[in-house]
Amino acid sequence: MRAIRCVLVVSVLAFLQCAGASTLSTTRNMVFDYPAARRDESVVDDYHGTKIKDPYRWLEDPDSNETKEFIEAENKITRPYLDACPVKGEVHERLTELWNYPKYSSPFRRGDRYFFFKNTGLQNQNVLYVQDSLDGEPRVFLDPNTLSEDGTIALSGSRFTEDGSTFAYGLSVSGSDWITIHLKDVATGEDYPEVLEKVKFASMSWTKDNKGLFYSRYPEQTGKTDGSETEVNRDQKLCYHRLNTPQSEDVIVVEFPEEPLWRIGAEVTDCGRYLIVSPVRDCRDNLLFYADLSKHPNIDGLLPLTQIVHKFEADYEYVTNEGSVCIFRTNRNAPNYRLIKIDLHNPAEENWETLIPEHQSDVLDWASAVDHDKLVIHYIRDVKSVLQLHSMKTGELLQSFHLDVGSVVGFSGKKDQTEIFYHFMSFLTPGVIYHVDFTKQPYSPTIFREVKVKDFDASQYEAKQVFYSSKDGTKVPMFIVSKKDLPRDGSNPALIYGYGGFNINIQPSFSVTRLVFMQHYNGIIAIPNIRGGGEYGERWHNGGRLLNKQNVFDDFQAAAEYLIAEKYTRASLLTSQGGSNGGLLVAACINQRPDLYGAAIVQVGVLDMLRFQKFTIGHAWVSDYGSSDNKTQFEYLLKYSPLHNIVAPVDERHQYPATLVLTADHDDRVVPLHSLKFVAELQHVAGHSRAQHRPLLARVDTKAGHGGGKPTAKIIEEHTDILCFMTQALDLKFVK
Ligand SMILES: *[C@@H]1O[C@H](CO)[C@@H](O)[C@H](O)[C@H]1NC(C)=O
Ligand SMILES: *[C@@H]1O[C@H](CO)[C@@H](O)[C@H](O)[C@H]1NC(C)=O
Repeated sequence: MRAIRCVLVVSVLAFLQCAGASTLSTTRNMVFDYPAARRDESVVDDYHGTKIKDPYRWLEDPDSNETKEFIEAENKITRPYLDACPVKGEVHERLTELWNYPKYSSPFRRGDRYFFFKNTGLQNQNVLYVQDSLDGEPRVFLDPNTLSEDGTIALSGSRFTEDGSTFAYGLSVSGSDWITIHLKDVATGEDYPEVLEKVKFASMSWTKDNKGLFYSRYPEQTGKTDGSETEVNRDQKLCYHRLNTPQSEDVIVVEFPEEPLWRIGAEVTDCGRYLIVSPVRDCRDNLLFYADLSKHPNIDGLLPLTQIVHKFEADYEYVTNEGSVCIFRTNRNAPNYRLIKIDLHNPAEENWETLIPEHQSDVLDWASAVDHDKLVIHYIRDVKSVLQLHSMKTGELLQSFHLDVGSVVGFSGKKDQTEIFYHFMSFLTPGVIYHVDFTKQPYSPTIFREVKVKDFDASQYEAKQVFYSSKDGTKVPMFIVSKKDLPRDGSNPALIYGYGGFNINIQPSFSVTRLVFMQHYNGIIAIPNIRGGGEYGERWHNGGRLLNKQNVFDDFQAAAEYLIAEKYTRASLLTSQGGSNGGLLVAACINQRPDLYGAAIVQVGVLDMLRFQKFTIGHAWVSDYGSSDNKTQFEYLLKYSPLHNIVAPVDERHQYPATLVLTADHDDRVVPLHSLKFVAELQHVAGHSRAQHRPLLARVDTKAGHGGGKPTAKIIEEHTDILCFMTQALDLKFVK
């Protein structure tokens, strides 16, 4: 699968909203006594001659009593509002009931054993099982649920040695990006004594002699490193750890001291001879180097590197190699990506060869070597998955694996193995895992396992894709999912979910929360694949980043207008929702067109566009956003930065939608100060306006982070709160 390059993605689970109809009767006359947050008008920054006040700068200190008191005061008004939802019990119960079905990952073989993840239904964390053969008895191999009472310790990243004898695994606490790496002897189940610390955004790769692990870490980060701090992450180093030795004996093998903000990815090639090193500066484009490990068998210090790619101009992702000839996936001169061959002994660009050329419309999303001489290739075609088998030698298409409309969300297979598994999902398919055995011709996939959700009858629902016109005429795809045969008279509630950034594709997926919204509120789910994403390759991404970012918002607003014009819903029943970069999307859109939405759910959003680069890994997002350090980009950011564009409503029609801003104390990806400053300003400017009747609230969770590794119990609580917020704010009816 494609390595996760982007360090801004929130795990994408869309939620829901509500049915019934009617107006704002319950909240029309509600008066909210918003916390009186101190405004410090003396904090003024000078950006290229423009003075910008930042009255809530004090909220940037997560440890001050004043910040803690502010958070407490916010929760104190939000909690009663959510708890007063008359159907809270029903919503929670229904979510829990539907959530309670067994979930499986694709199995994968390491050494002589098979492994797979399973969740019986409501377990907080998925459990890793081992079995000696595919039909053998599964035994628990690692159960993260045993590591904490409340499920807040999660597995985050792992890697087996080639022979399957040792398992390196990361553990994260309370949703932080920080992990500790632990090492387990697979045969005995015992952990080695050493624990590797100060690890974040780590690639992990074992040497093929199974003796040691390359991993990246931040050895120089001082102060707290539990994910509640906001310090910039800098000076990542690539280290080598020898199994069964203390971390203090690890050696730094690659570093770029003049480039403190680079993150260093590394992968040992399939043959074991080379280490491919790929530094990345932000969220796109990497350099390429390699080290010849055969010349440095002891790995006892900095490895001499040969540079292949000298400029940050494109992505290069190692796929496999035969001798010194490596296959890379790249968008170099190929916005939809292609596969190329680079001979490490002759690496100049003029000697590169194309193995699989760029497709004119489909995006080559990932490639994986299987069965010695073949490649499985995943394409995105109009946002849907296409899976193909190609010859590794010639690149030619050998066959396609038929898929329904949906997504491949999991894959396992290796070059030296003669089988693959892939995991299919769609809006109405909770999961099917397919198996292909390459020792038997023809290669026909068989269903290995099918996930079933109790009481879910897919035939009552429909999912379709429409293409609507954005402001500038661009055709944008949108999925619309709902019960079949709902009247199109504007009487049903709808939830529009978007992301729009970082080359990320929002493909079809199954969501229990969406199902509850559709089933019990007659709700309509709408997912526009707006620009900024990677659904149509680099062009789509470029169409929505830097000085094109406004296109992302325009695409989203046009989707909302389409849903209203086509009478799927009406503005007062439409909720917008997004997380992380999607939180920015939702917040910018309600500033620009508050009249289009009845409610807005802003999750872990990037909301202060002038200062995001100053905290944790924020500096990596300048490839999508630009930075206020640059005058042109500053002027552009200032026009849409959610924190800086809050305006008091002129009349009731232009009041803000009911807004719920969500964050958590251990979000060290998008630090909580974005949400805190935004909600303080929103309440100050709009909350006291006489035209503003709808609530503007914040929900600040504890022992939780950006979303990754969140325990099931917490997810269900959060989704219950979101549904209840919509129920309350839009006066929706829960139909049994
Ligand atoms: C913060 O609050 C704690 C507990 O109430 C108190 O002990 C401490 O002195 C306060 N710190 C400051 C700087 O006011
Ligand atoms: C400043 O931003 C503009 C617009 O994105 C860009 O063209 C220019 O290269 C940037 N300048 C610097 C010095 O990075």
